[in-house]
Amino acid sequence: MASILIIDDDKFIRKTFLDLLAPKGHDVFTLETAEAGLAFIGTEEPDLIFLDLKLPGMDGLSFLEKLRLKKYDIPVVVITGYANVDTSVQAMKLGAKDYIRKPFNIEEILLIVDKIVQEKQRDDQLAYFQKQKDTILGYGDIIGNSKPMQNIYRFIDQVAASPKTTVLIRGETGTGKELVARAIHYKSERGNKPFIEVNCSAFQETLLEAELFGYEAGAFTNATQRKKGLMELAHNGSFFLDEIGDMAPGLQAKILKVLEKQTFRRVGGTKEIMVDTRIISASSRDIDKCIKAGTFREDLYYRLNVATVELPPLRERKEDVLILAEHFLKSYNAEFKKNILGISDSLKDRLINHSWPGNVRELKNTIERAVLFEQGKMLHGETITLTERSIKKEDEPGKISIGDQGVSLYDLERSLIIQALHKANYNQTKAAGLLGLTRETLKYRLKKYKIKH
Ligand SMILES: Nc1ncnc2c1ncn2[C@@H]1O[C@H](COP(=O)(O)OP(=O)(O)OP(=O)(O)O)[C@@H](O)[C@H]1O
Ligand SMILES: [Mg+2]
Repeated sequence: MASILIIDDDKFIRKTFLDLLAPKGHDVFTLETAEAGLAFIGTEEPDLIFLDLKLPGMDGLSFLEKLRLKKYDIPVVVITGYANVDTSVQAMKLGAKDYIRKPFNIEEILLIVDKIVQEKQRDDQLAYFQKQKDTILGYGDIIGNSKPMQNIYRFIDQVAASPKTTVLIRGETGTGKELVARAIHYKSERGNKPFIEVNCSAFQETLLEAELFGYEAGAFTNATQRKKGLMELAHNGSFFLDEIGDMAPGLQAKILKVLEKQTFRRVGGTKEIMVDTRIISASSRDIDKCIKAGTFREDLYYRLNVATVELPPLRERKEDVLILAEHFLKSYNAEFKKNILGISDSLKDRLINHSWPGNVRELKNTIERAVLFEQGKMLHGETITLTERSIKKEDEPGKISIGDQGVSLYDLERSLIIQALHKANYNQTKAAGLLGLTRETLKYRLKKYKIKH
């Protein structure tokens, strides 16, 4: 099945294409002008375009030129009115794949469509395979040999082998949840099909729904054209729902339906669309707590939680720290065109002793900064500071851990007061309430800590 755009000012020809191709299961769009065609391509990328060369307004050749300038790689078959060899040749020079002459026969069109759709599928798959050649053997970009990581590799192998199983990946921020999701996909038999990801915390509910499920024309004010959702694009592949703990309850119900029935509806649509995709979800929040707080559906949790893995924080696998650091040093050497030979002993000590609250991401960023500013042959990291995070995870309110350097009560109190003010929208009574203080006490402390808005 392909999505096919026909641009022709002749109503009869548009109808012929529509009647011929739609029953074969293709998504057929017909437009009258090249201008409308260009606008359409801005929102949806068809797999194939049939283009009349003689059009009112912009003609077919200019359309081809524009398409090429915009670097679109959509195969175009031109339709020429009569035996006009010159323009057909010109069209081929501008990148048209093929041409047909009016009057054309139906068999000819079907053959062309089949050929181009097959070619496209083959190219897509080839590109995927090329990209994943190394990946399929290893575990993508995942580095680390520690015991906890070996367990992760084993888990990846196991779930990769069962391509329908839903997977939930937990772990603190920066522990590599996304890398693991990708590795599972590429190692599985779905690996040559799309890996589609969406971050549930990045969109507001209605936007996320449109993004996930697509919409029909007229579903809302700006929906002038039908748009496929990401779920549909993930057909036969894998779908990665990141930060699932942040998903709105209304959408949770719809995702549950996808998991149970493997169907969904576009926004504003009535048709049930089938989709075969493996759902891999990830959360850095504790979902058990979200369930208790009533923000996450328990039934969905059980569905998502068929195979679960918890990625270990970096501080629990210190033996990986230097391996990772050397790896990042190499890659930033290349990126910044430097030739730093290795990591100095003093920096090694600091790296190993740090607790890495931001996990591998923090380590990666640290090495990046160190490489950027290093003037010597070895990486000393004299310009970087490694700060212990004194307030622990958001889901452990009140739990404060004291790092090796200790903690400043003065700074801590001041920072909490400022946070409370932000949270209360600068309403002092509310802020005082958040801190368990009276308004008078809060006022006194605002003065003491010299906090003004
Ligand atoms: N084991 C690893 N080997 C190599 N790089 C890693 C590893 N783990 C994480 N990284 C790198 O650290 C960064 C963070 O990883 P990733 O985005 O997968 O974390 P995450 O768990 O999804 O974090 P968040 O919860 O914040 O989204 C990425 O740049 C990733 O490439
Ligand atoms: Mg992530």
